[in-house]
Amino acid sequence: MPTHQSPVSRPPSVGGSFQLVDHHGVRVTHETYQGRFVLVFFGFTHCRVVCPRALSKLSTVLARIGPLAEQLQALYITVDPERDTPEVMRAFLENRYPRFTGLTGTRAEIDAAKRAFRVFAERRLDPNEPDGYVVPHTAISYVLNPDGKYAAHFIDALDETEVTDRLRMVLRAHAASE
Ligand code: NI
Repeated sequence: MPTHQSPVSRPPSVGGSFQLVDHHGVRVTHETYQGRFVLVFFGFTHCRVVCPRALSKLSTVLARIGPLAEQLQALYITVDPERDTPEVMRAFLENRYPRFTGLTGTRAEIDAAKRAFRVFAERRLDPNEPDGYVVPHTAISYVLNPDGKYAAHFIDALDETEVTDRLRMVLRAHAASE
């Protein structure tokens, strides 16, 4: 099914504007990253399964695409801003997933970013967690073009090889069009 294989076959209207703080405490917006591709994943640092698996997979993909990764900024946007301060995000990412920059913000700023990417994430009580809650969240990665427009998305079920192939295709297609 060639249409299904194409990374640009089904462009949902995701992406657009956000105003957040990066893990160095610097205010950023969507315009901060214009001129580069952006790979975005939403999650929270206390996530036990989905985020570690996704961030590991995406880190491997970025290593595999080699120099192409220099055209791309990888962002991890928290859906748990009450716990995920810039300092928490930085410690988490620099230790384990150094290719990613973490973004956080106020609850209102995070909610706006979630709407822009159509990400679902709501707190759920969980007595087995240290703080009594988890934040189940959408596990889709989004790629934006250097002009900030939607380029592709990758569902969680895709493996490292599939994501690597599709991301390469997106980056090369753009290079060829210039
Ligand atoms: Ni997660």
